[in-house]
Parts: sequence; C-alpha cells; structure tokens
Amino acid sequence: MPQAGFDTLDIEILRKRKSEKWHTYPADILPAWVAEMDFPLAPPIQETLQEALEKWDTGYPISPDKTGIREAFADRMGERFGWAVDPGDVTVLSEVVQGLYLALGSLTEPGEGAIVQTPIYPPFLDAVEKTGRQLVENRLIRGSDGWEIDFESLEAAIAPNTRAFLLCNPHNPSGRVLTRQELERLAEIVLAHDLVVVADEIHSDLTFDGRVHIPFGSLGPEVAARTLTLNSASKSFNIAGLRCSVAHFGSPALRKRFDSQLPQHIRGGMGMSGLYATISAWREGQEWLDQAVAYLEGNRNFLTRELAERFPKISWAPCQGTYLAWLDCGELGWQGSPTRRFLERGKVALSEGGNFGSGFEQFTRLNFATSREILASVLDRMEKAL
Ligand SMILES: Cc1ncc(COP(=O)(O)O)c(C=O)c1O
Repeated sequence: MPQAGFDTLDIEILRKRKSEKWHTYPADILPAWVAEMDFPLAPPIQETLQEALEKWDTGYPISPDKTGIREAFADRMGERFGWAVDPGDVTVLSEVVQGLYLALGSLTEPGEGAIVQTPIYPPFLDAVEKTGRQLVENRLIRGSDGWEIDFESLEAAIAPNTRAFLLCNPHNPSGRVLTRQELERLAEIVLAHDLVVVADEIHSDLTFDGRVHIPFGSLGPEVAARTLTLNSASKSFNIAGLRCSVAHFGSPALRKRFDSQLPQHIRGGMGMSGLYATISAWREGQEWLDQAVAYLEGNRNFLTRELAERFPKISWAPCQGTYLAWLDCGELGWQGSPTRRFLERGKVALSEGGNFGSGFEQFTRLNFATSREILASVLDRMEKAL
C-alpha cells in the first residue's frame, strides 16, 4: 500500500502550524507532547474541505440532526465494531472533553463520586474537580498485559455516594486496549453498584496487532442503558481543531438528563469544517486510516526496540493502541520531573506525568504520531538529557 506521506514530513512546514503542539514552544524545542498527529490530512478530507471552500460554504451549519453525522457514526460502529447504533440515540457536540463535563454535570449530583482509572488523560481529573464531584482514583496496575484494572481495589473504592465510572478505552496514556473479559468484569461491577458509565472511546480506531476495540455500550442492553459513549474522528484523523464529536445515549433516560443540563446555545455547536471533515473521515477515510495505523504500529515497534537499546532504565509496557507512550523514568534516579529535564537538557517537549494523576511524577508521555525520522530525533534529544 502506498505511504501517504507519513515518512517524509518537512519539519519546517510543521513548525508553521498554529496548532498547540507546534506553536507552544520556541523553535529550538522539538515537540512530542499533546496528542496531535504530524501526518498530512487524509486526501478525502482535504478534498472535501477544499470543495466546501470553493463553494464559500462558511455560513451556519444546518441542524446537527440533519447533517448525516449521526448516521455516519452509526454505520461505522456497526461495520467496524459490530455495535448496532440507532442514529436517533446520537447527538452532536463540539468536543469530547465538553461531553465529559456535560455528562458529569447531568448524570451525577454535586459531591457524588466519579471513578477514574489513573494515570488518566488530565481533563478527566479536571472535569471531576471543576464540576464539584468527588474524585475517586483507582490506579491501574502493571500486569502481564500491560496496565490493567485493579478490580479488587476498584470494588473497595466504591462508596454509597459513588455514582459514575469514567472509562477511557483505548486508554490514554497507557495505550491499553481492554479485552472483552476485562470489560465484562467491569460491566458486572457497574451493574452491581448501579453506576453510570461515561465511556470516552475517542481512540477506538487506533489499535495494533490485530486488536479490535469493543465499545462498552455494545456489551448488552443492561450495560447500554447506563452508558453514555463519547467519540469523534478527531484523534484518528487529526481533525481535533475542527471541533466536532458525538455522544451516544444507551437509554432515553440518559438522554433526557443530559439534554436537560444545558440549553443548546450555551453548549455551543460544531463548525461547518468539523461537519464536512467528520463525515468525510467516517465515510471515505478508511483507506488512509489503515495506512496511518500500520505506520503508527511500525513506530511503536521502532520505539520499543530503541528504548530497550538506548534507555534500558526507562520502563514501558508497549502500547496496544493510541499513539502515546507512557514511560516510567523512575529508575533513571533523577531528582524532580523527568519531563522538565528532557525539556531543559534535551530540548524535547513531552507531557508531564504528574498531570495524569498523583504518584506519576516520574513518568512522561511521548507522542509518536510523526515520521520515523522525527521520532528518531526525539529519542536523540532524550538521550542528550541522560
Ligand atoms: C482520551 C481522550 N479524550 C478526549 C480527548 C480530546 O478530545 P476533544 O478534543 O474532542 O475534546 C483526547 C485528546 O487527546 C483524549 O486522548
């Protein structure tokens, strides 16, 4: 299959981007932090956006329900993951993180507990705190399959006021893709304790070694009835800046509570470019995505080899999905944050481990969605910091 420019990125062009990844640090820093891809846009998305511009189609988007996004999402869930979704149970939001806040605000009460599996994508922690809910941290543990749920401590952590479980699968930052067995065990627990599940499945397309993501809401009607699923094309196709995502409600009751939280106008809406790009991604982007995932899997393998050879003291459970590497730098014996040291001495920007939960200060997160050449430079710079 032809490589769609993944391997031939021009760093000078990347540096001209206004994106958070490329525009936050000065030019002497090589960024490998926030979860953006450096790859060229999928050709169908680029063509669709260009056609829209040629039509000067920059007015108000039509009502989200009439855009076809819900149908595109439902078809995709059926085709790729065998999950039967009714488009009528889907609503369009502008971003997944917004969905986390709305879900917590509507499906739980102030002071009620929400469980997160740490380490976790930092907005999960912020969303619980900023909505005035009680944060219940359940740490993942390193097992034979990488980072795994500690089911015993999970059950022990559930208190009478615990109301929600925030699931992130595939998981950011560990890159774990949960198995059916693990998800079913989790389902038993949430049913037994009458918890609602907010399932952030934004990385569902990005799985390696033949693994296939299993949507939590597909585990059966009883599970679906308590599950609100958030997803978007933004991670897999690198269109996060176009602001468009979806929420799927496993029951009318969930939807009613969610909708009652905030009127549409306060929520804000998707932009026209997000609408065009999301439909194009889901309807026409699969060939590009297959190539991107194959390239990322190659990067994951490259990183595994290089880390073992050049950084034997950095411990990593190679990720099963996503394009993020969660690196334990504890054995380097450094004082303070390894992320800071990599930045100051190596001039490479990674994500600060301590932001992913307490007790992870010796970790750092590396984004490998770039060309192998740039990834090699990231590693060279990290080596300099040693
Ligand atoms: C697990 C997870 N959820 C949500 C997001 C952000 O999604 P959005 O930009 O749609 O809010 C990210 C971005 O990296 C993520 O990793």
